[in-house]
Amino acid sequence: MYRLCVIEGDGIGREVVPAAIEVLRQLLPQLQVVPARAGWDCFRETGEALPQATLQSLRDCGAGLFGAVSSPARRVDGYRSPIVQLRQQLQLSVNLRPVRSWPKVSSRQGVDLVILRENSEGLYSGREHLEAPGVAIAERVVSVAACQRLARRASQIASQRKARRITLVHKANVLPLSCGLFRDSCRDLLMGEGWGDVLDERLVDLAALQLVERPDDFDLIVTTNLFGDILSDLACHWSGGLAMAPSLNWGDDIALAEPVHGSAPDIAGSGRANPLASILSLALLLRYHWQRGDLADRLEEAVQHLLESGAPTDFGVDTTRRITDGVIEALNGA
Ligand code: NAI
Ligand code: MG
Repeated sequence: MYRLCVIEGDGIGREVVPAAIEVLRQLLPQLQVVPARAGWDCFRETGEALPQATLQSLRDCGAGLFGAVSSPARRVDGYRSPIVQLRQQLQLSVNLRPVRSWPKVSSRQGVDLVILRENSEGLYSGREHLEAPGVAIAERVVSVAACQRLARRASQIASQRKARRITLVHKANVLPLSCGLFRDSCRDLLMGEGWGDVLDERLVDLAALQLVERPDDFDLIVTTNLFGDILSDLACHWSGGLAMAPSLNWGDDIALAEPVHGSAPDIAGSGRANPLASILSLALLLRYHWQRGDLADRLEEAVQHLLESGAPTDFGVDTTRRITDGVIEALNGA
C-alpha cells in the first residue's frame, strides 16, 4: 500500500501537484492520497502556516508531495516558512537535487550531476534576532551529527552512481569553525567509507563559477544548506530552469518530494505552470524512498520520450494540461 500526504500549498502548487498525482496514479493505481494544508493562504485562514494535523499526516504516511508556498517578503508576526519547519521537525535532514540535461529544453547536453544539501541547519537554523536597533543577527548551526547524516547519504548516492568525483563545497577559509567542521566531518566519514580517491573540495565562490563554466567537472556535490540552495538553483539552468528542477527532502523514515520552484504568483491560475518538476520529484520519491527504481525509470523515460518527440515545455495557457496528458500518453506507450 502506497500512502502519500499531499500538500498543494499556494499559487501554482494547486495546479502542478494534482497534475503530478494524476501521473503517479498511472504507475500506482492503488495509491492512497491524504490531502493536507500548509502555506500563506492556510495561515491567513487558520492563523497557522503549518497545522499540527499536517505534520501528523506526513508522519502517518511516511511520504509526501509538497507543491510550493508563498512567503511574504517582510516579516509577519507568527508566520514562518512551513517548508523550513517541515524539514526541521520531521528531520528531513538531506536534500537531494539532481541536475541533468533533457532533450530540447536544456541549454547544454551531457550534464548529469547531483547536489546533496544539508537540509535542517546551517544559516537556515531559524535562529535570527535583532540584537540592537539596526543590527540583526542570524546564527549558523553546524553539527557533526547532521554532517554525518549528509555524508552517509552521499556515500549511498556515490555507490549508486559509481561516482567519479565527490566535491565538498564550503567556505572554510572565511568560516573556519562552522565550515571547517562541516568539511572535516563529511571528509572523515567519506574517507572511512572508502571514497578517499574521488574526494575533492572547492570553496563555494569558485564552485559557482565552475558550475557555469564546466558543469561536467562535477558529479556529486555535497554542501551546506544555504550554499546548496543557491548552487542548485544556479545549476538547474542546465536542466532547463526551475520548471525542470526536482528535489527530495530525505529523512530516515520520511521523504517529501518537492519541486524546487516557488508558488509563481505571476502565472498562478493561468494554466501555464509546467508540472514536470513535480512529476520528476515523484520519480525521486519512487527511486530513493519507496525503492521502486523500476517505476522511477519508467517515469523519467516517459518525460524523456515526451521531450524528444518535440513537445515544448510551454504550451501557453494549456501547458499544465498538455504536459500532463503527454507524460501519461508516453507512459502508456501511445
Ligand atoms: P518562483 O519559483 O515562484 O518563480 C520564479 C519564476 O519562474 C517566475 O517567473 C515563475 O513564473 C517561473 N516558474 C516557476 N515555476 C514554474 C513552473 N513550474 N512552470 C512555469 N514557470 C515557472 O520564485 P519567486 O518568484 O522568487 O517566488 C514566488 C513565491 O514563491 C514567493 O512568495 C516565495 O517566497 C515563494 N517560494 C516558495 C518556495 C517553496 O515553496 N519551496 C521556493 C521558492 C520561492
Ligand atoms: Mg531555493
